[in-house]
Amino acid sequence: MKASILSSTPATKQVEMLSYLVYEGEKLLHNPSQEMLKRSDFTGADGQILTVDNLDGYDVVVFAGLGKKKNVSELKMQNAVASVVRFATSKNLSTLAVVIPEELSPELKGSSCMVGARLGAYQFLKYKTDEKTKQFKKIEQISFVVSKGAEDFKKGLEFGIVLASGVALARDLVNDPASHTNTQTLVDTANLIASSSENISVTVMDEEQCKKLGMGSYLSVARGSIVPPKFIVLHYSPSVSAKSPKGGSPFGRKIALVGKSIMFDSGGLSLKPSESMEDMKIDMSGGATVLGVFKILSELSSNPDFAKATAGKEIFGILPSCENMPSGHATRPGDIVTAMNGKTIEVLNTDAEGRLTLADGLVYAEKHCKADVIIDLATLTGACMVALGNDLAGLFSNDDELSQSFEKEAKETGDEFWKMPLHLPYLKKMKSDIADLKNIGGGRYGGAITAAVFLSEFVEKAKWIHIDIAGPAFRTEAPKGVLGKGATGWGVLSIYQFLISNY
Ligand code: BES
Ligand code: MN
Ligand code: ZN
Repeated sequence: MKASILSSTPATKQVEMLSYLVYEGEKLLHNPSQEMLKRSDFTGADGQILTVDNLDGYDVVVFAGLGKKKNVSELKMQNAVASVVRFATSKNLSTLAVVIPEELSPELKGSSCMVGARLGAYQFLKYKTDEKTKQFKKIEQISFVVSKGAEDFKKGLEFGIVLASGVALARDLVNDPASHTNTQTLVDTANLIASSSENISVTVMDEEQCKKLGMGSYLSVARGSIVPPKFIVLHYSPSVSAKSPKGGSPFGRKIALVGKSIMFDSGGLSLKPSESMEDMKIDMSGGATVLGVFKILSELSSNPDFAKATAGKEIFGILPSCENMPSGHATRPGDIVTAMNGKTIEVLNTDAEGRLTLADGLVYAEKHCKADVIIDLATLTGACMVALGNDLAGLFSNDDELSQSFEKEAKETGDEFWKMPLHLPYLKKMKSDIADLKNIGGGRYGGAITAAVFLSEFVEKAKWIHIDIAGPAFRTEAPKGVLGKGATGWGVLSIYQFLISNY
C-alpha cells in the first residue's frame, strides 16, 4: 500500500473511493451533499459508517463517524480510517482518498492514520491458493487529504508504518498454525530482527543449557513434544548511555518483557476437549507480541527521538518457547518439578502449562538479566475470558505506580484491559501437600487470579505486571476498528508506548 498526501480532494477520476471522517452533529465542510446526509440515519457517531454509490462523481463515497468533536482522539481517527480501508478492501478497490479533519497534532494524526490504514487492510492470505483472492484484495494507493501541517503529517505516516509492521508481525506469527511454525520459527524471527539493528542481540538456549540453569519447570512442559524447546532472549541496549529519568540502577532501567510462547497447547496428558483445542495455535501470542515490539525497536534504534526516549533503558525479550503435547515422554499429572529458583511444583494438571514456562522465564529475567521491571504477556487462563470477555486483557501488578504508568501510556493505543486484583491470600489454594506449590488452585473460581498469584512466587524484588491476554489475543467476532478476525497483536503498541515513556 502506497500512501500520499494531497492538499485538496482528488479529481473524481483519480480514486475509486473518497471518504470523509465526520464529527457527530457537525456540518460537513467539504461535501456538497449535505442534504443527502440529512436524509440518512448517519449521525457521525463513533464507529458509524455510511456508504453511498455514485456521489459527486465518485464511484463510492464513504462517511465514517468520529463521534463528538470535543472528544476526538488519535485512536478514534485510527479506527475510523481502519473501517474505511476495510470497506475498500472488501469491495476489491485499489485506490482511495480519505479527507482528514484539522483537529489534533499533524504528526500523531499521521501515525494514527497509517496504523489504521495498514491494520484495517491486514489480511492473512498465506494459505489461500486462489490467485484472485491473493492479488485483488490489496489496496495499492491511499491518499490523505490534509489541509495543514502536511510535513509533520508525513513524518507521522512514516512512523505509523513502523508501528503497524510490529503489530502485523505479531499477527502473522499467531495466525500461522503449528503445522508451519515451531520454536525454530521464533528463533529465526528473533535473529532476523536482531540482524537489522546494532542495538539488538539474541541468545538461544537449548534443552541442555536450560537444564544446566535448573529450568525444570519450563522443560517439564516441553517433554511430551518432538519440537525442541528454545529459550530465546533478545537484548536491546541503547546507544545513549544517559540515565533514564527515574532509573533504578546506575545504568538506568532494565525492563524485561516475558511472553508465553506455547506453539500449540493440546493440554498435554490433561488433554483438552477438541473444541477447546481448535484455537490453541494462539498460545504463543505473548511471545509474538514481544517479537512485534522488538521489530519496532530494531527499526527505530537509529532514530534520535527514540534513542532519547529510551536512553539508559536496557530492554530484554524473553520467550520460553515449546509445545505442550501428550506422549510417552510427557509430564504426568502428579509429577513434581523444580523451577530455577529452587521451588518445587506438583503438576496436577498439565494443561496449566503457561505458568510453568513463565515461572522460569520470570526467574531468568530477574536473576540473569537483573531486570527491575518485568512485564509478562500470556494467553494464560480461560477464566480471564469468563471474567472479562474478548475485548479486555486482565492486568495484575505488584506495584501501583507501575501499573498506573502503564495504564496512562496504553490509553491511546487501543489495547484495552481491566485491572484485576493480585489477591495474595489465594496463594493458600496453590500450596501442595508434598511440594512447595501445585499448579492448579482446586476449583474453577478465580482462576485468572490464582494463576497470577502462582506467578508472583517467581518474582522477588522486581516491579511486575502480568497481563492475561487469553481473551483479546484472537478475535472471532465481527471486525471492529483496526481489529479484524484472527490475531490482534494485542500489546505491541501499548508496550512500545510504555517503553518510550519516562517511567
Ligand atoms: N492456553 C490456555 C488458556 C487459554 C484458553 C487461552 C482459551 C486462550 C483461550 C492455558 O494453558 C490453559 O489451558 N489454562 C487452563 C488452566 C486450568 C487447567 C487451571 C484453563 O484456563 O482452563
Ligand atoms: Mn493449557
Ligand atoms: Zn496454554
